[in-house]
Amino acid sequence: MSLQASELFNEFQQLSPSEFFRKNKQMLGFSGKIRSLTMVFHELITNSFDAAEEAGILPEIKIDLQKLGKDHYLLKHTDNGPGIPEKFIMQVYCSMFAGSKFRNIQSRGQQGLGCSGCVLLSQMTTGKPAKVSSACIENGEMKGVKMTFKMDVKKNKGLLMEKEEFIPTSTGVSIELQFKEVSYSKAEQGAFEYIRRTMVGNPHAQIIFRDPEGEKFIFKRAANIVPILPKEVLPHPKGVTADDLIFMAKHTDKRRFRSLLASSLSRMSEKKLREIEEITHVDLNKRPKSMKWEEAEKIVHAIGKMNFMAPPTSGLIPIGNEQIEEGMKEILKPEFIQATTRKPVSYRGGVAFIIEVGLAYGGNSGRIVNEQRKSEIMRFANRVPLTFDQGSCAITEALKTVDWKRYGLKDLENIPFTMFVNIISTQVPYLSTGKQSVAPEPEIVYEVRQASMIVARRLQKYIRVKKAAQEKEMRSKIFEEYVPVILREAAILAETDVPEYKDMLSKVTHRALAELFGEDPDKIEEISPLDDKDARNEDIKKNNTDDVDDLEDRENIDLDEELENSENTDSLDQYFDE
Ligand SMILES: Nc1ncnc2c1ncn2[C@@H]1O[C@H](COP(=O)(O)OP(=O)(O)OP(=O)(O)O)[C@@H](O)[C@H]1O
Ligand SMILES: [Mg+2]
Repeated sequence: MSLQASELFNEFQQLSPSEFFRKNKQMLGFSGKIRSLTMVFHELITNSFDAAEEAGILPEIKIDLQKLGKDHYLLKHTDNGPGIPEKFIMQVYCSMFAGSKFRNIQSRGQQGLGCSGCVLLSQMTTGKPAKVSSACIENGEMKGVKMTFKMDVKKNKGLLMEKEEFIPTSTGVSIELQFKEVSYSKAEQGAFEYIRRTMVGNPHAQIIFRDPEGEKFIFKRAANIVPILPKEVLPHPKGVTADDLIFMAKHTDKRRFRSLLASSLSRMSEKKLREIEEITHVDLNKRPKSMKWEEAEKIVHAIGKMNFMAPPTSGLIPIGNEQIEEGMKEILKPEFIQATTRKPVSYRGGVAFIIEVGLAYGGNSGRIVNEQRKSEIMRFANRVPLTFDQGSCAITEALKTVDWKRYGLKDLENIPFTMFVNIISTQVPYLSTGKQSVAPEPEIVYEVRQASMIVARRLQKYIRVKKAAQEKEMRSKIFEEYVPVILREAAILAETDVPEYKDMLSKVTHRALAELFGEDPDKIEEISPLDDKDARNEDIKKNNTDDVDDLEDRENIDLDEELENSENTDSLDQYFDE
């Protein structure tokens, strides 16, 4: 017997966001024991960094991970940020889609899901409450509160169990959570590696970590500068859809279409508004609330045909070459290091972004896998390491298309090589709520590819010079070994004393080597491998300019030509398929 609609709808109900994610925790990145714990580290660290930087504080985090049983841990995470006012604490940790970052601003967090996701995972796997202690300044007064609470999943809010006030000495947040069905690991996707990578992208931070065995790791600050605070920027007209316009029109307090457009979008001058009117014949003096779908579509269509200045980039703050190099040096102690920052450009027509890359070679670059040093790729978005879902990421896609052999890197998989790539944007196009991979927008793939080739070329130069220096050294050793023997034998034949040759030896060797290498023997030149600054300076001198950006534009042209003449290779496939 068939059922009636009313019977079918007996089961009709509405899920709260927390209920949805309780059933779909993998969408928050909580899948697998190792990954789940790494994601918890990721959410708490990114929040602490965002909060400290916004308050102009150099971030300092203490993490203590204790093992309570098999796959059962207690995590204590403490930061030195501005703290959270008491009335927001439960919302921060128990309400999904709640936060202070739903703005067009460059920050690590975007969705208002991160820390409530951690509380949810803790509750789901242990049934234990969360303990938060927060110290902040409210109305000029330092206040501290400790709270114990659970999440009411149905209502998507907190249930307070205990509260106690205290007098703090400094600001910050401390959270204690228990987890089961998670696992601590030093493997590439584990929590330890997550911290190591975090430090490469955030040399201004300090993390003290006590692992489950009680070993303490101090990841020291390599740079004492709080990053400049990014500014909020208005969305660019080219990125706007009809639905966006209707949404803006519904929720604005502006009285006309024109003031709505001018105040909500960047680069929307009076001249541009007149142009829209001419193209669409829509009266921009009408009240926004009356905007019809067809009108919104016409406006978007007109914008598509018009030219606008590129999106403002004042809201984008890259890490910068020097800081990337500092961060990589501190962690990797490489023999060669080079970073490059591209100029801001945009994807989807209207979202500005910057790509910056760093290449480290030698020393502790790469990763030890089964006692063998392997190359590694560190992907970042707004300074946050992306550890999972590498296969679908724009960064991986781009690096796959570079023909590394052209840069003298034949066995890329098995060399001490770290490639750092960071995308800076007010809106990183993540592929999922887990925020682990960047959508392969063509412009992003292009920029990553270009930047990688620039640093790869500098590495190639370094390796070439180093090899030549090594060869000279080897040959000079041969001279030093044989010249005394020849002199001795010659003296015996000529029946004279062996002449004093020590002072003469280095001159003879120098002259002989110069001849061998086709160099001017009278020129005394030290052959030292290029270090970081030298490579860049040499490039600049060669192009007779002081502006590295200009130079890189020129390099881009060269590289573009190279690209056209070359086919994409799959030389990295093995690496990425691992
Ligand atoms: N350690 C902290 N110190 C101060 N404020 C914090 C801290 N952690 C979280 N917050 C506040 O709580 C809000 C919610 O954090 P949550 O991690 O859930 O979301 P988000 O960081 O905004 O975005 P995302 O889901 O992408 O991480 C933040 O927007 C911030 O306002
Ligand atoms: Mg967050």
